[in-house]
Amino acid sequence: MDLISACERVMPQVGLDTTVADLVPMSHNASAVGAPGISVVTRTLILLICLLLVAWNSREKKSVPGPSFCLGLGPLLSYLRFSWTGIGTASNYYNKKYGDIVRVWIDGEETLILSRASAVHHVLKNAQYTSRFGSRQGLSCIGMNERGIIFNNNVNLWKKIRTYYTKALTGPSLQQTVEVCVSSTQAHLDNLDGLDQVDVLSLLRCTVVDISNRLFLGTPVNEKELLLKIQKYFDTWQTVLIKPDIYFKFGWIHQRHKAAAQELQDAIESLVEQKRRDMEQADKLDNINFTAELIFAQNHGELSAENVRQCVLEMVIAAPDTLSISLFFMLLLLKQHPDVELQLLQEIDTVIGERQLQNGDPQKLHVLESFINECLRFHPVVDFTMRRALSDDIIDGYRVSKGTNIILNTGHMHRTEFFNKPDEFRLENFEKNAPRRYFQPFGSGPRACVGKHIAMVMMKSILVTLLSQYSVCPHEGLTLDCLPQTNNLSQQPVEHQQEAESHLSMRFLPRQRGSWQTL
Ligand code: HEM
Repeated sequence: MDLISACERVMPQVGLDTTVADLVPMSHNASAVGAPGISVVTRTLILLICLLLVAWNSREKKSVPGPSFCLGLGPLLSYLRFSWTGIGTASNYYNKKYGDIVRVWIDGEETLILSRASAVHHVLKNAQYTSRFGSRQGLSCIGMNERGIIFNNNVNLWKKIRTYYTKALTGPSLQQTVEVCVSSTQAHLDNLDGLDQVDVLSLLRCTVVDISNRLFLGTPVNEKELLLKIQKYFDTWQTVLIKPDIYFKFGWIHQRHKAAAQELQDAIESLVEQKRRDMEQADKLDNINFTAELIFAQNHGELSAENVRQCVLEMVIAAPDTLSISLFFMLLLLKQHPDVELQLLQEIDTVIGERQLQNGDPQKLHVLESFINECLRFHPVVDFTMRRALSDDIIDGYRVSKGTNIILNTGHMHRTEFFNKPDEFRLENFEKNAPRRYFQPFGSGPRACVGKHIAMVMMKSILVTLLSQYSVCPHEGLTLDCLPQTNNLSQQPVEHQQEAESHLSMRFLPRQRGSWQTL
């Protein structure tokens, strides 16, 4: 990493400007081209230099800031940085170094990193950016190429599939969410072995997987086993997403990733089969959920079996990969801001009192809403989104060619525009409703997070159920700043190191409801 940054720092000095200056004496010789005595090697060299200058000039016309091309070293180094530090970390690095519109290269492809609100807004709302970029081979390896929704780049198929998600995640389908979230959170809290060393991330993940299963699938699952497979799948997804084609030429690498992803695909396939059998045996189908709708679509020849499996898989992984980690960050931030915790508890007391949360309650919890928004702004799990230009365009005065990769670095945008105290965690940042242009934790427009409404209801329901009964205490001195984290496909705590395990466990102190003192 140091090597990369050292090279990139040096690059502007050895960039083509300097290289061209060095070449000036040589170009005087150009008049002598063809003159007797000039060697073939010199002529070829001059021709090559001319070609490079033409290439350089055509790039310069766009003049998007970013590392210089520098004989191909720029693309190589920026790709190395993305591969080495992760997509999120590299995007933040480039936006900090070159500004809010930057041009880099990923696997040789021109990639724009946007964190300027006007540019981000333009991309989000335009249908010509409804595709994403990523290695085709990598996506095939994990079953996402032209299947499912999240990285499905077959726009017609994606549109069709998205309607099934929209139906399951909005409107009347939201009705049962509060009840399912409250009862699942309560059941998981009641099942805790002890309150001294609670593995909070695992508790949140199990709860969220159970909620997703109850809402969208409805078949008994072994949560812990499924979660292990989800984590393996996610790791593989991160590993293969921007790998070059040559990487997949090595059969053993390809097979290893395929096998890691296959475990979850097989598990989901048997759950879908179970669901199919349950549907066939039922006298009456009164709860037609997401998976049931997909099975009907398959029966009518509208979706393939592989697509049904991938859609269910993506619905099952969507919440544990995003929501559980967001909630974990929220619990840490809450302990760092006891005044905010008190405000939250007072609101819960006033609006809910001693009863359980019910439908209609979440929208009355305004402090909680500001708290969740501020957490998603200040320390998001999803820092950026990946898109691809489907046609030529102009973004904020810069020409963008069809096929350009786009990274919308919303995490960086949330810390540089609009908010009064962008670098501080403050509920006042949400005193007034933030205009959509400046606050996009779920994206917006045709390819926005289709789960954004349900996600808010789920987060509120889980937090209220947990916080009204327990004060959650991380290890002394543990703050978000010192928590080891990675930021590749998303921002996550490091979980596989030995010391990480102790970091991630927290003490639960029972609360006395009403007075908000701990017992
Ligand atoms: C804190 C929770 C969550 C956050 C921060 C989040 C954020 C995001 C973001 C930023 C995107 C990309 C949007 C874009 O490209 O503009 C996305 C896509 C998506 N999210 Fe979420 N999400 C969350 C929870 C959920 C949940 C609970 C579900 C479903 C149960 C879900 C399902 C999806 C799906 C299916 C997509 C892909 C949409 C498409 O490509 O058409 N998300 N999410």
